[in-house]
Amino acid sequence: MTSTATLTLALSTGRIFDETTPLLAAAGIAVAENPATSRKLVIGTSRPGLRLLIVRATDVPTYVEYGAADLGIAGKDVLYEHGGGGLYQPLDLGIAACRMMVAVPEGFDYAGAVRTGARLRVATKYIRAAREHFAAKGVHVDLIKLYGSMELAPLVGLADAIVDLVSTGNTLRANNLRAIEEIMPVSARLVVNQAALKLKRDAVQPLLAAFADAVAAHA
Ligand code: ATP
Ligand code: PRP
Repeated sequence: MTSTATLTLALSTGRIFDETTPLLAAAGIAVAENPATSRKLVIGTSRPGLRLLIVRATDVPTYVEYGAADLGIAGKDVLYEHGGGGLYQPLDLGIAACRMMVAVPEGFDYAGAVRTGARLRVATKYIRAAREHFAAKGVHVDLIKLYGSMELAPLVGLADAIVDLVSTGNTLRANNLRAIEEIMPVSARLVVNQAALKLKRDAVQPLLAAFADAVAAHA
């Protein structure tokens, strides 16, 4: 393959797209349109042969795993739940940074509940990370899968605790919750399809290098 091979980069609109755009700009890559306003799902760039696919954040690893996209940008939270099969993860982009935390309502005696061996109901969209976290601590939990607005669950009696992402802490505070344990720090990673890394090496490597330089310049 030559460096003119077509490369597709999958990413989600919103936070990830907004924080990736400056990195692309630092690498000299302009994006043809803003997906938030154009509604287009395939977007060209000023870099010959590079196009963007706009997908749901949780779908990015799937597009890259199956080779529908050569590269992708996704949060560590999403990659952890996916499992990372078929993906090479070369670069922490340092964007969309937050922490995956356990949170409970203010006034809830979490330590006491754990001490007495109580079975806790925990609402989250991060089933794998939550299961492993509580298993490692020997805390008995029933996990309830949600797809968003986890902070609501303890307020209406659906769960005793949640596992969710926390950045400023504003969402927890606004809902009378407090973070009690960190599960992992989260930031967005560049991932590459393992076959593309080999078969399109001449095109992929310069793009990886451009991202690495852009990240270093933004650090
Ligand atoms: P989906 O649309 O698939 O449900 P989502 O709504 O979680 O995904 P975003 O809210 O755009 O999508 O989040 C994308 C990524 O940004 C997350 O996977 C996480 O890595 C990161 N992220 C989420 N919330 C925050 C936050 N408050 N601060 C910083 N980064 C965050
Ligand atoms: C994320 C996360 C929390 C919030 C935390 O939600 O799920 O609800 O951010 O950020 P904070 O600590 O700064 O308040 P997001 O804003 O992405 O909404 P969504 O997941 O429902 O799309």
